[in-house]
Amino acid sequence: MKQSIEKGKTLLIDGPACIALYSGALRAFGAPIKVGEHIIIRRGRRIPIEAIEDSQIEILLGNSASFSLIDENPIPDSWRNAADKILSIDGRVEIVVLGNVDSGKTSFCTYLANVAFERGRSVALIDGDLGQSDIGPPGTLGLSLIRSPVIDPFNLQPDYVIFIGNTSPSSVVQPTINGLVDLRDKALNMGSSFVVINTDGWVEGLDAINYKRHLIRRLQPNFVVIIGSEEPLKPLIDSLSSLEVNIILVETPRNVKRRDRETRKMIREASYRKYLRDAKVRSYPISWIKVDGHMEIAGKPDQALKERIEGILGEKIVYCEGTQNSIILVLDERANLSNEARAKLSAELNRPIRIMRKGEERGLLVALEDGNGRFLGIGTIQCIDFERGTLKVYTNVEGSVLRVHIGQIRLDDKGNEVEIISRST
Ligand SMILES: Nc1ncnc2c1ncn2[C@@H]1O[C@H](COP(=O)(O)OP(=O)(O)OP(=O)(O)O)[C@@H](O)[C@H]1O
Ligand SMILES: [Mg+2]
Repeated sequence: MKQSIEKGKTLLIDGPACIALYSGALRAFGAPIKVGEHIIIRRGRRIPIEAIEDSQIEILLGNSASFSLIDENPIPDSWRNAADKILSIDGRVEIVVLGNVDSGKTSFCTYLANVAFERGRSVALIDGDLGQSDIGPPGTLGLSLIRSPVIDPFNLQPDYVIFIGNTSPSSVVQPTINGLVDLRDKALNMGSSFVVINTDGWVEGLDAINYKRHLIRRLQPNFVVIIGSEEPLKPLIDSLSSLEVNIILVETPRNVKRRDRETRKMIREASYRKYLRDAKVRSYPISWIKVDGHMEIAGKPDQALKERIEGILGEKIVYCEGTQNSIILVLDERANLSNEARAKLSAELNRPIRIMRKGEERGLLVALEDGNGRFLGIGTIQCIDFERGTLKVYTNVEGSVLRVHIGQIRLDDKGNEVEIISRST
């Protein structure tokens, strides 16, 4: 469908949709859109497109997509003022963006990155939101150097990814903070001097505030931009004020699109599928690689120990291996180990026992890494073949893999999220 947009008006489009610009000039989150360009708006996302000149576009709307024309500038004045203040500093600048879910964090980071890029800065965007990832798959932290203006950071090619393996930071605070510090250092080493760090929407309550405070203490950014209405964020603002950081408060845009849990899950699932495109099942000998994270296994079966345990329990077990500190015991899916039997084993073997059930690994999201610890891609575990000592992973990673890091997110065969395992075993 053809549509004209008068200069100064804004087209709000809710995806899935695609627009093509025939004539005029448009802009989205500070990124210019030129004649001949196509812009794709993903499902679950709303993009405000401003007309810089009278423009003619073609719109293709997908299922449940919609659009409306509004007579206002979608970028709040507070966003413009914040960008001006931050850009008044020459040299290296680091900015952390905090705010509730749906407050506009991703959009503010995108806007700031675009304005800085247009002014010639070497911009890096770091995505610290595990649940609603923009760069890299869900459960990861991502870094992208900005090489051209960005409308949707989901389309950026990540330069570096760190796998955390959970969609929420609450049980993985320390690895998330370490990962973000690591990515910031990498961005600086790669030559960026304007580093924008986005975070998750967990900002209310003592644990969330402690986490954000700890993060800011470690990163020591020049600016912390806090998005949203002041009242619910007051405890966070008060806590950060004592750190003597430069805090800038900005508003949430009026027309922001809020997403419910189901939509958020659907957005994550689209992302898993994107990173699993063209995947096939590949087999890795466990004893050649490091398998760790939510489950750890060395792939070095101990036959004598297995027989001893079978003797104690009076029944067959699938697999066992012993390390100095613990014993990994794999039972059949249906096997049931009573507390009494467990206590007997611990007493006789005098080491903590980690019990796994065969099949429990199925569907767990993993990251595959090379020998330098570099993230190569994600996969899902098909199975561990204890007899052959192999790990079967559904992945599109082709290179040589030396580590498989197991996460706490379980997907089904279609890439749907089945569960997030809350407790490490
Ligand atoms: N000024 C605006 N006008 C219209 N829509 C906007 C505007 N700013 C942001 N949006 C849209 O509102 C939605 C929420 O914004 P955004 O994704 O930036 O928030 P967020 O805080 O990062 O959310 P999340 O917690 O899911 O990460 C997005 O679809 C975004 O494109
Ligand atoms: Mg976001």
